Amino acid sequence: MRDAFYDVLKARRAEIEDRYRRLTPVSARLAREAADILPGGTTRDTVARRPHALFVASGAGGRVTDVDGRSLVDLWFNATALPLGYADPRVVAAASAWLSKGTVFYAPTGLETELARAIAGRLPSAERVRFTNSGTEAVMLAARIARAHTGRAVVAKFEGSYHGSWDDVQWSVGAQGDGMGPASAPQPVAATGGLAGAAGRVLVLPYNDLDATARLLERHGWDVAALLVEPIANRMGLVQPKPGFLQGLRDLCDRHGIVLVFDEIISFRLGYRGAQGLAGVTPDLTTLGKLIGGGFPVGAVAGRAAIMAATEPGHPARVVHAGTFTANPVTMAAGKATLEALTPEVLDRLNAEGDRVRAALRQACDGRPLQVTGAGSLFKISAARGAIVDHRSSLAADAEWEDVASLALLCDGFFLTTRLHGCLSTATGPADVDRFVEAVHRLVNG
Ligand SMILES: Cc1ncc(COP(=O)(O)O)c(C=O)c1O
Repeated sequence: MRDAFYDVLKARRAEIEDRYRRLTPVSARLAREAADILPGGTTRDTVARRPHALFVASGAGGRVTDVDGRSLVDLWFNATALPLGYADPRVVAAASAWLSKGTVFYAPTGLETELARAIAGRLPSAERVRFTNSGTEAVMLAARIARAHTGRAVVAKFEGSYHGSWDDVQWSVGAQGDGMGPASAPQPVAATGGLAGAAGRVLVLPYNDLDATARLLERHGWDVAALLVEPIANRMGLVQPKPGFLQGLRDLCDRHGIVLVFDEIISFRLGYRGAQGLAGVTPDLTTLGKLIGGGFPVGAVAGRAAIMAATEPGHPARVVHAGTFTANPVTMAAGKATLEALTPEVLDRLNAEGDRVRAALRQACDGRPLQVTGAGSLFKISAARGAIVDHRSSLAADAEWEDVASLALLCDGFFLTTRLHGCLSTATGPADVDRFVEAVHRLVNG
């Protein structure tokens, strides 16, 4: 649908792209070189952007320096993975110690027990922990544990939620068009080529619609092993669950014998006890990633001992789980240093700064058809006239406007996703935040 407000900026795309090209000649060259060997010019789809990706040389604190030598205010910190910012001295020291001690061994070091204890000390639901090398692997493992525990096959997920790149959750992530089915009974839509099929494996549910979810589980619940939910739905636009929604899911899972999995790979940063602590709802399993590795590849499944027991020797449906780099000491040490630094007081300050940014952005966008969403240290600007509460309402957002706005902000020195997701770190300078808000104000008020 055409909208005069959005059209004004979108009409400037060529001019803004030209400016970006002039500012980033080395990135442009590296992008051309990448295209000769990396299909699509990238080996990580999420970092691509038009007209070419930004290539980064280094990061320190709340800023990165790109390969063209520009210092940029980073407002996404590798997809929320670095809440202390870049090269935090405590994390650097902890990780470096293990580089000189041999990096990784065909043996445990004890650090995995320490990091597991640190997680268990924060998450009431984390009686047992298993580490993986990515959030995707954590979700895979959680589903496998749930399937082994229940003897059922189906994984339920919400329409519009991203849980990593594993096949059984690559359904209805950014679904659009006729194939989506009715809002109250979404049909699985493949988010990638190469999937073997959803039948008998995947059930898609409508986020923030507890009644419709209850009806779908009434029909299919006894086949469902795991229900996966993000306590803040990132891809939908950092959408928060309605009051009572997570508790409602808890009740439904209890009723149908389903393993409730909170995917806290992003939301863990929202509180000392994660989003589950803030909501007062205890899942059976939690998937973690990003910040618990202190900037190194990581994932974890944490949860009730009785369910995690599926990974123990002697379990009748034993889940086998290995991995050459699983629980490697560099990651474990960096993750532990990060968690130690994220005390309740530090998280409170970070979240208060997030509140300040969202309030200032709302003011900057006042009177414009823009929505500012998020919680804690997370924020997003969406080019939509109406509130975004679920996947279907998120589709009303003008993704093209967001992309051009993101590129314009990058030219001004602020690095967000192409859909204008942002987050803060403890190293983000308040003056940089103020400058960012001013840049948004200029952009949306011409
Ligand atoms: C909620 C959520 N789950 C799972 C994943 C997958 O994690 P990874 O990229 O480490 O595989 C992500 C990554 O962005 C995520 O945001």
